Amino acid sequence: MPTKKTIAIIGASGNMGSAIAKSLSKGNYRLLLFGNQQEKVKQLIAEIKSVNPSSDVESMACPFDASWEADIIIPAVQYEVEVDVAEKIREVATQKIVVSISNPRNNDRNGKDAWKSAAEELQNHLPDSKVVKAFNTVFAKDFLQPVIDERQLDVFIAGDDEES
Ligand SMILES: NC(=O)c1ccc[n+]([C@@H]2O[C@H](COP(=O)([O-])OP(=O)(O)OC[C@H]3O[C@@H](n4cnc5c(N)ncnc54)[C@H](OP(=O)(O)O)[C@@H]3O)[C@@H](O)[C@H]2O)c1
Repeated sequence: MPTKKTIAIIGASGNMGSAIAKSLSKGNYRLLLFGNQQEKVKQLIAEIKSVNPSSDVESMACPFDASWEADIIIPAVQYEVEVDVAEKIREVATQKIVVSISNPRNNDRNGKDAWKSAAEELQNHLPDSKVVKAFNTVFAKDFLQPVIDERQLDVFIAGDDEES
C-alpha cells in the first residue's frame, strides 16, 4: 500500500475547504484541518467521522502547525487572503506541494495585472514550494457528486513541476 500522504487544508470551515475535506476523507489520506471558526471545523470532523469512522482527520490550531506536518497544503481561502496565508506557512512549506484553488474576481485587482495567474502570484510568494493550480473550476456543491448530465466533471491542473 502506498504511504499515506498528509494533507493540510487551511480554511476548512469554508465552502471549498469543507467540500475538499469531505471528498479527500474517502481516500487514504491523513487530513489536518484549520479554520478560523474552530467550532465549524469540529462539526465538519464529526460529520466526516459519522460517514467514515476510520477516517484520519484532525483539527489544527493554526496554519503553521497544519502545514508543518503536511506533504500537501491546500489554502482553501479567497484570492486576496492567499498571500496572507503564504506569509504564515512559507517557512514550513519548503519543497511541498501547495494547491491554489482561488479565482480572483475582476475587482480584486482593480483593473491592474488582470493577466496574472493567481497561482503564479502564490508561487512568487512561496518560491521554495511547488504550487499547482487545481479545483478552481469545480463548484464546492459538486464535489461530493462530481457528475453532471451523466458526465464526470473534469479537473484542470496547471503547474511547472510534472511530479507535483
Ligand atoms: N465556492 C466555490 O464553488 C468555488 C469554486 C472554485 C473555486 N473557489 C475558490 O475557492 C476559494 C474559497 O472559496 P469559498 O467559496 O470556499 O469561500 P468561503 O466559503 O468564504 O471560505 C473561505 C475560508 O477561508 C477562511 N479564511 C479567511 N481568511 C483567512 C485567513 N487569513 N487564514 C485562514 N483562513 C482564512 C474563511 O474563514 P472565516 O470565514 O471563518 O474567516 C473561510 O473558512 C476562493 O479562492 C474561491 O475563488 C470557490
